Amino acid sequence: MIGVFDSGYGGLSVLREIAKRLPQYSYLYLGDNARAPYGTRSFDCVYEFTLQAVRYLFDQGCPLVILACNTASAKALRTIQQRDLPDMDDPTRRVLGVIRPTAEKVGEISKNGQIGIFGTPGTIASESYDIEIAKLWPDFHVYGQPCPMWVPIVENMEMNTPGADYFVEKYVNQLFGKQPEIDTVVLGCTHYPLLYDSIRRFVPPTAQVISQGEIVAESLADYLRRHPEMEHRLQRSEQCEQGAGPCSPQITCEQGPVPCSPDITYLTTEHPSKFQDMASVFMGQPVENVTKIQLS
Ligand code: DGL
Repeated sequence: MIGVFDSGYGGLSVLREIAKRLPQYSYLYLGDNARAPYGTRSFDCVYEFTLQAVRYLFDQGCPLVILACNTASAKALRTIQQRDLPDMDDPTRRVLGVIRPTAEKVGEISKNGQIGIFGTPGTIASESYDIEIAKLWPDFHVYGQPCPMWVPIVENMEMNTPGADYFVEKYVNQLFGKQPEIDTVVLGCTHYPLLYDSIRRFVPPTAQVISQGEIVAESLADYLRRHPEMEHRLQRSEQCEQGAGPCSPQITCEQGPVPCSPDITYLTTEHPSKFQDMASVFMGQPVENVTKIQLS
């Protein structure tokens, strides 16, 4: 199984694209909804909560965990990779985040190296995007814009309202007020794709707006191609098992044109029925198989 973790619902926008791109695997999604949002929490707190979630997913049998949350990727990934993983009983398990693959992509897209990042206050304050982009593209300029109201707007299903437009326009104007020449804008929070239409309306047409789901999915497919030792450890979806046998990370099984359908199991620290309703909006399809768990 591939573990996918987020503070709440946002990671589902990433899971949706991963499952579409790599349907032959089984997925275990964990949303720490009871303790979300993470975006305004301290560094230590986000690190501690994220480590608990990673350990939990490892214990459930996931050899690979994706932190489908920018805040967790920004504040916890590096320490978990460098300090915690090597000391665990199985140090061959892996944790990957969403910031590095996004940083790689902006270099392919931007023509003038002027990059805007929308994120939670925590992600922007961590300067993780500035650091990752500087490593890969040292001539680029990165302008961060915290958007503290966007997650609550999405969580309260207020996306298509004048109130949402007000706060979208406000943060877009603040970002472009810093640098009108920005040609690439990253939605650096997994909730923001649900505000895409409104954001696209206010961002100048000369700038591209990038969501992370497809980028992370493509990057994961590439990772599994380069790491067959990990790919072989991943559990296949039931349909794939019953079908034609092992297939490579591609959308259809090698032996037939019928796309596999991924097995997805959902865990939440909140009440399952609450999770189910909102998760169905993020996934664009009914979400079932939800179990409540406790992290500690
Ligand atoms: N999913 C988080 C992220 O991508 C945002 C939600 C939160 O603040 O917990 O940054």
